[in-house]
Amino acid sequence: MRLILLGPPGAGKGTQAANIVTKYNLPHISTGDIFRANIKQGTELGTRAKAYMDKGELVPDSLVVELVEDRLSKDDTQVGFMLDGFPRTIYQAEALDAVLGNMGTSIDHVINIVVDPTVLVERAVGRRICKNCGATYHVSFNPPAEEGVCDKCSGELYQRSDDNEETVSNRISVYTNETAPLVEYYEKSGKIRTIDGLQDIDKVFSDIEKVLK
Ligand code: AP5
Ligand code: MG
Ligand code: ZN
Repeated sequence: MRLILLGPPGAGKGTQAANIVTKYNLPHISTGDIFRANIKQGTELGTRAKAYMDKGELVPDSLVVELVEDRLSKDDTQVGFMLDGFPRTIYQAEALDAVLGNMGTSIDHVINIVVDPTVLVERAVGRRICKNCGATYHVSFNPPAEEGVCDKCSGELYQRSDDNEETVSNRISVYTNETAPLVEYYEKSGKIRTIDGLQDIDKVFSDIEKVLK
């Protein structure tokens, strides 16, 4: 199964991706996570990406497309994959279609998580992530049993540096201008499925499961 998760910052892509990859056993390919790992390791790609991410701007297409192309050439994607946060521009979507076309495959479903823009800032600003295992929490909507500590592995929770009000607001505008046009792009191929992301996390996932059945 080859899937794309689409939705604005804070829609719940990462949260649902974690559920999807566990149930369907797919590699989770998050371009945001790949950039953050590169920043942590101090690579050149990380340094270049950080300048854009800190402002809530998109990393240039040329840097992103090559990265994803390389990732999709790995053997583990033969069973399928879950793309989270890619594509984000029409250029990226066309590049992905071309790459998959060359591999003789195509996307099966685009899951579009729709959330009222008014809740997005609160969701992102309250997000906390485990340093050790990457599990995602929210201080009010999905709190861990003990503040600042991961339920799954007891790791320490941290806040992403781009999860402040100003940067999140810019990420939302960038989404509206550059990524939202992908909805129409994928409507043309009839592969897009709209999911109400304002529901509880479990209910959002059960709606996704219905699409993937
Ligand atoms: P990226 O890491 O992809 O961030 P994003 O798209 O801004 O999305 P988020 O990760 O913020 O939100 P999410 O939808 O995953 O929400 P989550 O599940 O965590 O990208 C970061 C940056 O990298 C970009 O700004 C850009 O610079 C760069 N980049 C990445 N990919 C790129 C690309 N392809 N091209 C160019 N640049 C790229 O949930 C959020 C919070 O809400 C959590 O606290 C969660 O617990 C809570 N929550 C989730 N679901 C619910 C629910 N149903 N009810 C209540 N709370 C919920
Ligand atoms: Mg995410
Ligand atoms: Zn953890």
